[in-house]
Amino acid sequence: MPLSSHDTVKRMVTGLLTARGHEPDLLLQHLIAIQLAYSYVPEIAVEVLSSVLGVTRSRIRACVDFYAFLHARPRGDYDVLFSDNITDRMAGSEALRQQLTKRLGVRLDQTRGDGRVTVSLTSCTGMCDQGPAMLVNGLAVTALTPKRIERIGELVEAGVPLEHWPAKFFVVEDHIHRAGDLLSNAEKMSAGLQRFLDLGPQAALGELEASVLRGRGGAGFTTALKWRICRDSPGDERFVVCNADEGEPGTFKDRVLLARYPDLVFKGMTLCAGIIGARKGYLYLRGEYRHMLPRLEWVLSRRREQGLLGWDICGQPGFDFDIEIHLGAGAYVCGEESALIESLEGKRGVVRKRPPYPVVSGFQGRPTVVNNVETFLAAARIVEWGGHWFRGEGTQQSAGSKILSVSGDVARPGIYEYPFGTPVSRVLEDCGGTGAQAVQVSGAAGVTLAPSEFSRTLSFEDLPTSGSFMVLGPDRDLMDMTRNFARFFAHESCGFCTPCRVGNRLLEALVEKVAAGKASAYDLEEMRQIGNLMRQASYCGLGTTAANHVRDILDKFPDTFQRRLRPGSDFTPAFDLDAALAAARAITGRNDAGAHLEEA
Ligand SMILES: Cc1cc2nc3c(=O)[nH]c(=O)nc-3n(C[C@H](O)[C@H](O)[C@H](O)COP(=O)(O)O)c2cc1C
Ligand code: SF4
Repeated sequence: MPLSSHDTVKRMVTGLLTARGHEPDLLLQHLIAIQLAYSYVPEIAVEVLSSVLGVTRSRIRACVDFYAFLHARPRGDYDVLFSDNITDRMAGSEALRQQLTKRLGVRLDQTRGDGRVTVSLTSCTGMCDQGPAMLVNGLAVTALTPKRIERIGELVEAGVPLEHWPAKFFVVEDHIHRAGDLLSNAEKMSAGLQRFLDLGPQAALGELEASVLRGRGGAGFTTALKWRICRDSPGDERFVVCNADEGEPGTFKDRVLLARYPDLVFKGMTLCAGIIGARKGYLYLRGEYRHMLPRLEWVLSRRREQGLLGWDICGQPGFDFDIEIHLGAGAYVCGEESALIESLEGKRGVVRKRPPYPVVSGFQGRPTVVNNVETFLAAARIVEWGGHWFRGEGTQQSAGSKILSVSGDVARPGIYEYPFGTPVSRVLEDCGGTGAQAVQVSGAAGVTLAPSEFSRTLSFEDLPTSGSFMVLGPDRDLMDMTRNFARFFAHESCGFCTPCRVGNRLLEALVEKVAAGKASAYDLEEMRQIGNLMRQASYCGLGTTAANHVRDILDKFPDTFQRRLRPGSDFTPAFDLDAALAAARAITGRNDAGAHLEEA
């Protein structure tokens, strides 16, 4: 894409501001549109945005720096990002990445001299059931094979616009293999909303209370209580936010729910609005799912036409509510609810100090409910069919069912819905993953299970989960997984607090030291200590869970690290003095054996 003149960029940004709005909250959305148009955010765009939105240039630049999908310098005409989750790697993504960079004559992270292409890695893109996957100019390309990579190389060299690439490259499958109560019943468009109007807000909240629905994003907070606190918090304006950031490695069920059941999710948000008294809602959709935006916008406008959104919903005077979609731009921490709200307000996604919690002071300082996609979907079913129906399955503390994203070494990766209380072994049988060496439940932040634990159950009592279920077969080296997770967390830490910012970097370095065969038993103990400190002292869930995988490998799969330790050494320095001096010694010819640490 040629560098554009100042005047062209100015015109484009001015048009954008006129079309979408001048509120500072829209800053991130404007930056995403500018990035898409020019492959970076030119300085002149920063100037125009700053003067029109009244936001300082340094804040805008900080935003560009923070989000992985925004750039201050041009990327190639084709901006290729290989999904770098462990499941992509297990499916051969690294070899495909090398094939493409070789074919195009470009180095990783460097834009080719003619500006045609840049190839980089990105965190999990949520296509684990159909990987290896990549994003090209923000659009998902799935099911990569050497043949497909070769064709992509040809298309890039020939400068073929993405709209003329084979449509099958961009197909994203739903892969629903097991539908339970939530997913198997057809939806009647206005039924839930009509029942809500018949019951009234108080009784509808009562149904939710009777259901004992707990949030499906991972933490499991009681949904009815969250809605009640928000409704009762002082303020004349309230907001509903649907968290579709879905950045946890191995999770993709929210993508499928939004693709297959968008009406149920929007209905759940509308019911929430009716109960808490909100008139505005946001769907925060992760940037990796930009391919879904046109259809979701279409569903919203259809719902407006049907009287299911907008003014006087279902003909009820005063029941007004509408939903806007905001895109994310590649930051895992933006799934954390307070960072998500910062991002919705157009800022860097840095975690807020709490209290106050979002239910009291959230978006624009107003009471705000933030719930996961699956939570809103379940709430819609509950208001329609009743809280007792929902309690009909599950366990004492975990009512209903859980939707899982199953990937890795299994015959049938995809979406599976199970009643809470289902053992891990049952899921493995159904998806064709028996004989697994390990299962990673609830993503990189979750828990690594050994075969002796496969009788444990998916439930808040035993194994709480955001839905990610990654299976590692008997031939996998768990070192690859732990290296991948350590890199991921070091990259994704928002930097707000020291235990997480520094701890994740230290853990990453130590894991790499073990992988390189340079570590001693001392380093393993160091990893454990750092992990404990991060767990106790980090400010949010990212830091408190980031060392889980290291702890689990140390405790349950000790051989993964032990067999790589440098034999016979109690301590090995992280800094390799001999390696650093090698070139100087060669040049000067002063290389006596006694000066080497190894021999000393
Ligand atoms: C680092 C981090 C990432 C998170 N990512 C998500 C996410 O992608 N989706 C989500 O629903 N919740 C995520 N959460 C949890 C949210 O903070 C919040 O608890 C959730 O959206 C509340 O919805 P629920 O009650 O319906 O689960 C994340 C939390 C942390 C600490
Ligand atoms: S724990 Fe990590 S992600 Fe969370 S606030 Fe601290 S630095 Fe940010």
